[in-house]
Amino acid sequence: MATNNVVELHGVTRRFGAVAAVDRLSLEVRQGEIMGFLGTNGAGKTTTIKLMLGFTHPDEGTVSILGGAPERPATRRRIGYMPETAYYYPYLNIHELLRFYGGICGMDTATIRARSARLIGRVGLADAGRRLLRHYSKGMLQRAGIAQALLHDPDLLILDEPITGLDPLARIQFRDLLLELRGEGKTIFFSSHELSEAELICDRVAILKHGALVWCGAVHEVAGDGAQNLERIFLRQLGEEVAP
Ligand SMILES: Nc1ncnc2c1ncn2[C@@H]1O[C@H](COP(=O)(O)OP(=O)(O)OP(=O)(O)O)[C@@H](O)[C@H]1O
Ligand SMILES: [Mg+2]
Repeated sequence: MATNNVVELHGVTRRFGAVAAVDRLSLEVRQGEIMGFLGTNGAGKTTTIKLMLGFTHPDEGTVSILGGAPERPATRRRIGYMPETAYYYPYLNIHELLRFYGGICGMDTATIRARSARLIGRVGLADAGRRLLRHYSKGMLQRAGIAQALLHDPDLLILDEPITGLDPLARIQFRDLLLELRGEGKTIFFSSHELSEAELICDRVAILKHGALVWCGAVHEVAGDGAQNLERIFLRQLGEEVAP
């Protein structure tokens, strides 16, 4: 079946005991788009991402990533992933960290070195390149995580709360980076609690509530006063009152 969907979830349910962390979720991410994945704490965003990566499996439904099962090595190589909370070896610097991950990905040393230098500059860590990760601030670790996710030039980026912890300058740089990557034809899926940021960056957003999809669409296509539309959509979908 010809499709330009990079991610396809059909009727996916993942239970933990009595809790359906993901509840009959059907979702498509199209080639070349930036999709934001929103929801309150515990809505099921991270669990969905783990299902997309093949780290956990659905009790019901199917997950297709880049046309196949997420656990296929050929698929994995095309995915860049940044976890919600990353634990890096504390006694490495960012160059060593990227050399380590590049090696795991099977990249050659020259390519790792060239891409690392560019990415470290791109995420604003050039001046901190020789410092140990154990001395990095939260936002600096976030930046390191973004560089790590991009190292092997993936076609699909899956980022779990990439904006959390970034200062305003880093947010602007991150936004520019995502738009640049989209310009290169990459597909980006990221979870966030930052509605205004998601509204600025995303082509489409999906809103999850108790594991179920309650809204999915393009924010700019929703009629409104042009300001904070996503916030209104979000509150309405969650059944909260919105001030007139
Ligand atoms: N390994 C697990 N064992 C038991 N319950 C789990 C497990 N992982 C997730 N859950 C439960 O599944 C639900 C969804 O959790 P998940 O981490 O996917 O939410 P989230 O949307 O990423 O939240 P947050 O915004 O806080 O990161 C929660 O009720 C959580 O307690
Ligand atoms: Mg989460």
